[in-house]
Amino acid sequence: ARQQQQQRKTLHDLMNSCADYFAHQLYQHPYAQGVQDYILGRGLTEDTVHTFQIGFAPPGWDNLIQHFRSENTNRALLKVGMLTQNDNGRIYDRFRNRLMFPIRDIKGRVIAFGGRVMSADEKPKYLNSPETPIFHKGHELYGLYEARKALKDFDNIIIVEGYMDVVALAQHGVRNAVATLGTATSETHVQRLFKQTSEIVFCFDGDEAGRRAAIRALTNTMSSLKDGLQARFLFLPDGEDPDTLVQKEGHDGFMRRVKQAQSLPDFLYQHLQTQADISRLDGKARLASLAQGWINKVPEGFMKQLLLNQLSNLVGLSIEQIEQQFKPEPPSVP
Ligand code: CTP
Ligand code: MN
Ligand code: MN
Ligand code: MN
Ligand code: MN
Repeated sequence: ARQQQQQRKTLHDLMNSCADYFAHQLYQHPYAQGVQDYILGRGLTEDTVHTFQIGFAPPGWDNLIQHFRSENTNRALLKVGMLTQNDNGRIYDRFRNRLMFPIRDIKGRVIAFGGRVMSADEKPKYLNSPETPIFHKGHELYGLYEARKALKDFDNIIIVEGYMDVVALAQHGVRNAVATLGTATSETHVQRLFKQTSEIVFCFDGDEAGRRAAIRALTNTMSSLKDGLQARFLFLPDGEDPDTLVQKEGHDGFMRRVKQAQSLPDFLYQHLQTQADISRLDGKARLASLAQGWINKVPEGFMKQLLLNQLSNLVGLSIEQIEQQFKPEPPSVP
């Protein structure tokens, strides 16, 4: 166990060194001017670049290999996903000619990177570190370390989709935003955030993918809804994301939208009513049966009672009648 701990420390140190290397290339590399122009074009200040330690992975296949020049380090770089290997066993840099976003764990250690291309014709737009011994996508959140560092406490935490959303919001003084890492919001993400705050505001892009992401997030929040905890959903205008919106409307405009975000119960029943027409009796039956799976996930408490109450109002059955149906039949005694 001690040896394993030592090894993890070495891997974290190595990732920190990579972040330092990329940060230096942003100023030292012969192509640095082009990267600086890209950063400027996206409206980021030097201060923001510094806060998030944004860097540049130069073009070429062996920059990290040449930088560290050690067989042992190459093996470790493979382990943390900074190098990758082709079928012939040749190793080479995973991230080439990309703008680099270091992903930190809650203690501030670099555990992974996201890398963005700087021209529209290159693919994929973002390349992320793979799962490694020190990086598990399903539970890490980009920007959580930086948010905790900037703020002593927060009223809420805003979950957004992208690196650029977190960074642009922070630059406009919205320092409590974090992003999932190209994956859906998981139950683990929600549980981790509710250890930091009593309210989560979900704010996904104003596109079809963003609306689907909101429903996934809703699904994965239900089981965490202990009394006192809250979640809200902010839907952005079509084609906008938090980055584009805060650049247009500024801090105050964005915060006005956050204040008006829809509560979880409202979003839940609105979503269910897109699948059940409660002006009809059979639609009410459908709503009640759809709601069952959602409400059953909520821990016992006032929140669960109030969701039942609301259902009772919507379908015109008493809470007792609803609970009767929701409770599994007691096993019959032979
Ligand atoms: N993403 C990814 N791989 C891709 C595209 C997206 O991992 N090929 C993840 C990234 O974490 C990205 C997030 O999904 O930040 C949201 O995707 P998208 O909205 O397309 O990108 P933006 O964050 O808006 O990026 P940008 O503003 O730089 O275009
Ligand atoms: Mn972990
Ligand atoms: Mn999108
Ligand atoms: Mn986006
Ligand atoms: Mn964007």
